[in-house]
Amino acid sequence: MGQVPVYYYSSSSNLIRRFADRLRDTDGRPVLDLSRRDVRQSEPAGSWVLLTPSYKAGNDVHATLPGAVRAFLRSPAARRRLIGIIGSGNRNFGRFYQAAARELAVVSGRPVVFEFELAGTPEDVAACARVLNALDARFASAEPPQGRR
Ligand SMILES: Cc1cc2nc3c(=O)[nH]c(=O)nc-3n(C[C@H](O)[C@H](O)[C@H](O)COP(=O)(O)O)c2cc1C
Repeated sequence: MGQVPVYYYSSSSNLIRRFADRLRDTDGRPVLDLSRRDVRQSEPAGSWVLLTPSYKAGNDVHATLPGAVRAFLRSPAARRRLIGIIGSGNRNFGRFYQAAARELAVVSGRPVVFEFELAGTPEDVAACARVLNALDARFASAEPPQGRR
């Protein structure tokens, strides 16, 4: 059974990178870093999951996705093959908690499959790995199923 890859973006504080590295260490899941240009310019061959932080842009209107994530999502194939979203945020941001992940879920029609704060706890990593294993069983394949192209 293949494993659905996780494409992540992490800022220089690296909280999400730590979570992604631990996901990979848990069961060898492929995790790909969207701050790398070669990763951003590639296209997922099949189903994939996005792991993104939220960065409130300094006003109430722009609770935006990181630019690297937006750039990757410009590819229609990437948008089509996205199956779920994992969000990292900080509850101190109140009603903007997980704003980017949740807004992307609304516009993409794809579910938020897991949320955690900051770099996550070991329990978060284990719970997220279980969620991803369930997605593997439903979605993992090199090619998307007929009709999803
Ligand atoms: C300037 C700034 C703005 C942020 N805005 C939000 C926000 O609107 N909602 C939220 O849930 N978390 C927000 N956070 C928290 C980050 O999303 C969270 O710390 C995340 O784990 C950062 O991951 P990274 O260090 O890998 O980039 C913000 C953090 C910073 C530094």
